[in-house]
Amino acid sequence: MREVSGPIGMFDSGFGGLTVARAVIDLLPREDLVYIGDTGRYPYGSKPLDEVRSHAVELATSLVHDFNASAVIIACNTATAAAADALREELDVPVIDVIAPGARALVAATRSGRVGVIGTVGTISSGAYPAAVETAAAALGRDVDLTAAACPGFVEFVERGQTTGDEVTVLAERLLAPIVDAKVDTLLLGCTHYPFLARTISDVVGPDVVLVSSADETAFAARDQLAAAGLLRATGTGVRRFHSSGDVDVFRDLGSRLLGPELDRTEPWPITP
Ligand code: DGL
Repeated sequence: MREVSGPIGMFDSGFGGLTVARAVIDLLPREDLVYIGDTGRYPYGSKPLDEVRSHAVELATSLVHDFNASAVIIACNTATAAAADALREELDVPVIDVIAPGARALVAATRSGRVGVIGTVGTISSGAYPAAVETAAAALGRDVDLTAAACPGFVEFVERGQTTGDEVTVLAERLLAPIVDAKVDTLLLGCTHYPFLARTISDVVGPDVVLVSSADETAFAARDQLAAAGLLRATGTGVRRFHSSGDVDVFRDLGSRLLGPELDRTEPWPITP
């Protein structure tokens, strides 16, 4: 295991993981953080899972070897579906993913047992959520009926900074129809980009449907795993660094709008040719 002084490493295909970064900064303000947004190769959701796995291994390895990360948070559902097992095998630091914590929160929150999850094509077609929800339901002694829907196009809106408006609403109405038809009472946003679209999603599914974002749950899971491994700091204020494999100015400008003032600078993260 790494020494306690290393930062928490996190990665996503782009801006979505910033929802998780926000939750981690709020919950663990003493920890240093290094975030890589792989905007040079986004989106992950429409790519074959093998390709996403290879990007995820490269990013996580860089976080540990180049930045001395003491733990890695896979701040992306698609990368979790593709690579969580591989990363746990390959890395000698704790690996925290977004799918298991989100599934647990979904099952814990439902009253009727009719639940939904939305995510990228890669995440939904991987079957990772039905498996995680089944495990969570068994652990919590609940019976749940899960409806899953892929939402291609949502991530692209977020990456353009377009999080509300008619175009997003029209697409959401079409893609969320199976969720509305299934009369779920709780809906998991199974893509870290989707909390940025929460207003539109809530308008479409209705105010009675509880939206669950995996960001907070992942931050709690990170806190628990880091505490168990003796990797949490007792004093100080964390330093946060943000890197992008794409245009660093675009990442800083949109990223600071989405995350907040902590993201005032973005450094390059070069893709290995
Ligand atoms: N934010 C990512 C996720 O949670 C994926 C977005 C993408 O690149 O398609 O799945």
